[in-house]
Parts: sequence; structure tokens; C-alpha cells
Amino acid sequence: MNKILIINGPNLNLLHLRDKSQYGDLSLEEISNDCAEVAKQIGIDLTFIQSNIEGEIVEEIHKAIDNYHGIIINPAGYTHTSVAIRDALELFKGPKIELHLSNIFKRENFRHHSFISPVVDGIISGLQANGYTTAILAINNMIKT
Ligand code: DQA
Repeated sequence: MNKILIINGPNLNLLHLRDKSQYGDLSLEEISNDCAEVAKQIGIDLTFIQSNIEGEIVEEIHKAIDNYHGIIINPAGYTHTSVAIRDALELFKGPKIELHLSNIFKRENFRHHSFISPVVDGIISGLQANGYTTAILAINNMIKT
């Protein structure tokens, strides 16, 4: 059974309080429930986590190296700042997808640069909560092929 890890970065635990025009209406818990439903339907083992702490995210990626087949990551604010998360992701050899609820290229200039994009296989940005379920289907196919 394919094992997939979804990592959510800082402030996404408070998604329900953030700008709905950018991020959509769903809370992170609702997104997590939708993801669990899709995982059940397609028969994968899915872990969905969130952390506000850069070092914790780095450690979760390290632990994933021998334990997961694919990683989907919404690095949130760390997208635009974190060399450490980028370097950790580089060590994970399975498929990786960078995910954003909002379209980061339609927003402020500082969000247009991602330290993460050069070390992932694909990017989904701007599909709001649908991006998560889309990413699960995509990464599952990437692992199979
Ligand atoms: C985000 C976009 C980032 O620029 C922002 O800092 C976030 C969320 C998104 O999902 O659209 O916290 O990653």
C-alpha cells in the first residue's frame, strides 16, 4: 500500500481565520477529512500533519525518507524563506509535490519566489482545497508509474 505524507506549514492550523478569498472556506480539519476520504477510496495510507516550527518540518521530512513513498507539502510562509526545508526535501528521493491553496503568482511579489519549487516534481497552486485531493491522486499515479 502506498504511504503518502502531507505536511502543512505555519499558520495553516488557523486556516479558518485566514483570508477566505485566497484560501477558501474550509478549515484544515475539513481538508484533512476530505483527504482521508479520498485516501480510503483509492486505498492508500495517508498521514496528514501540520507544524508551525521549521525544525519540526525538517525532522518530519527526515523521518519520511525510509517510511513514505511520496510527500505533498504546503510549506506556507516557509515556501519563501526556508533553505532548511528545501535541503531536507532534496534528501527524499520519492515523488514530491509543492502545494498552495492560493495562486502565489497572483499575489504579492514576495510570494512569487519559492525555495521549494526547484526540488519538487510538481506544483499545484490556486485550486484551494481541491488542490489537496488533486495532489493525492497525482502523487499516487507518480508512485505507481
Ligand atoms: C500558502 C501561500 C503562502 O504564501 C502563505 O504564506 C501561506 C499559505 C497557500 O497555501 O496558499 O501561509 O502556502
